[in-house]
Order: sequence, then C-alpha cells, then structure tokens
Amino acid sequence: MSLGRAGGRRWTRVAVLGLLLVASGCNSNQSVTNPATTPASDIATLWWAMFAGAMVIFALVLGLLVLAYVRRGRPGSGGDDRGPYRVILGGGLAAPIVVLSILFIFVIRVMPAVSAPPPGSTKLTVDVIGHQWFWEVRYPGTAAVTANEIHIPARTPVNLVARTADVIHSFWVPRLNRKIDMIPGRTNRIELDAPQTGVYPGQCSEFCGLEHADMGLEVVVQTPAAFRAWLADQARPARAPTTPQELQGRQVFLTASCADCHTIRGTPAVGRAGPDLTHVGSRQTIAALTLPNTPSSLFDWITNPQLYKPGARMPGFASLPASTRRALVAYLESLT
Ligand code: CUA
Repeated sequence: MSLGRAGGRRWTRVAVLGLLLVASGCNSNQSVTNPATTPASDIATLWWAMFAGAMVIFALVLGLLVLAYVRRGRPGSGGDDRGPYRVILGGGLAAPIVVLSILFIFVIRVMPAVSAPPPGSTKLTVDVIGHQWFWEVRYPGTAAVTANEIHIPARTPVNLVARTADVIHSFWVPRLNRKIDMIPGRTNRIELDAPQTGVYPGQCSEFCGLEHADMGLEVVVQTPAAFRAWLADQARPARAPTTPQELQGRQVFLTASCADCHTIRGTPAVGRAGPDLTHVGSRQTIAALTLPNTPSSLFDWITNPQLYKPGARMPGFASLPASTRRALVAYLESLT
C-alpha cells in the first residue's frame, strides 16, 4: 500500500508539528530543560545525558531491526551456534552494565546539589502542606498563612519543608529543583534558591486522587525588600469590611458554613479543611490555579465548584440568592 505524495506530505507536516511542539515544551516556564537554578541545571544536564543515551540505543536497535529485515530469508553463516548466546551476553548483560554504570556516575554527581539543605544553612523556612487539592503555605515565626502561591526572596537559600495533611503528594517546581514527596507522617526538605525574580509554576507530581491534575502552584520570587513587605502584609489579620455589601458578605461567610472549613484571621472563622482566606484577595488564582482570581470567576466557583474541579471538597452555594453570593464575593475580594 502506498501513501501517495499527498499522504506523505501530510505525515511530514504532522512530524514537523510534533517536533515543534516538543521543542516549544523545552523552553516553557514549567520545564526541566529550562533551568533557573544550579540544582535545576544539574538535573537538566542529567536529563540531556539520558536523552542522548536513549537516542543512541534507539538508533542501534532500529539499525539491527533493519539489518534483520534486509537479511531475512538468507541462510545463516552455519556451523556457529554460539551466535545467539553472544547477542544475549552482549546486548542483555554487558551493554546494560556499561549504560547503567555511566548513568550511576551522572546521578552521583547530581545528588549533592539537590539534597536537603544542611540545618542552619538557610535564612528562611517555608512549610508547605499538601491537601486534596491545594497547597497550604506557612511561614514559621510569623502568623502568615496562604495557599498555592509561595512567595520567596531572590538570592536567598530557602528551606522548604514538605508535609501532607492526607495522602501522598509531590511538590515539583521544575525550573527550581527536583521533586520532593509529601508522605503521611514524614517531613521532607528541599532547598529553593532562585537567582532571578519571577513566577515559577509547579505541579503536584504524585497521583493523589480525582483532582491531582488541578493541583497547581506558583513560586513567586521577589526582591528581598518586596518579599519582606508582602510577608508583613500576609501576617496581619484580615481587613475589616468597609461597605454595607462587604459587611453583609462577612455575615454570610460566618453563618453559611464557609467558616467551618476556612480561616479568616481576626474573625471567628477558624476552619482548617480548606485554604486560609485571610488575604485571598491578594492572590492571582483560586482553586490551586484552576481559575483566575476575579469577582466573576469567584462567583462561579462559589456557585458550583464541581463544574470547575469535579470532586473538590468545596460544596456549592447555588441555593443562596445571587445577591447574597455577590456580597460574599465582594467581601472575599476585599481581603487583600
Ligand atoms: Cu496532590 Cu497529586
């Protein structure tokens, strides 16, 4: 069967498009091959070494397949039954020993750069606790608690302590460092030390249930001065409502079961099941990067969270009158 010239051109186009997609992934803001720190650079080097090795082996296997095809039907050289054993010993034992030894040396060289920071070597500790399905972020020694947006100062070694409140999650910001698992009953640590300011997206990388794919996070690297100002703001209790609508919104929040799951510091709301909302208005996204933090998307989220994040623990409040939900949104968005 022949594809014909048109079919051939179509497949060429598909192949070129595929290569372009792969190449564009290499420069994305959430890619191992676009490192922003020394540990991430070491990991990228290891990745490219593995990729090059895999390509060589792939080419070798393809070459052997082609050779076998070309020589099909021809009689063997005859008289030598040791041929198959040589192939098994060479391809099944000697080659893997050589390849895995080289890889082992590469991994040993990368390990020191990506290991947990020695105690006392960092200036700041950030606690990150995985939940189904958001990230709780705490700054020990301060009252600041936030969610899904981890602010850190640039050019400052940060000790990130990873824990979980429920199942196994894995914290991963590919441009900054390796993955670190969050395992029930255990504490794992990793160092984040970003030389440049910017926003570095990350993702939960251990399957943790229905909304695993929508468990995103962002590391916001700021200048040290901007970070100090941000942290001081976040440590303050929530801003008091100033308009009648915001006042109504706070009343709704405290009475319509929101307070059972969420904390707003400075109010009687002290729930721990959902994200701390003391400064929710200052965040860029809601629902772990699922939606932008705008009044209209917050309204939609409160009305029917299951539409945007099926399985989310947050119940919907479609039964509340729209004006009541709007008051709730006005209050929450005022919490900057
Ligand atoms: Cu949390 Cu996957």
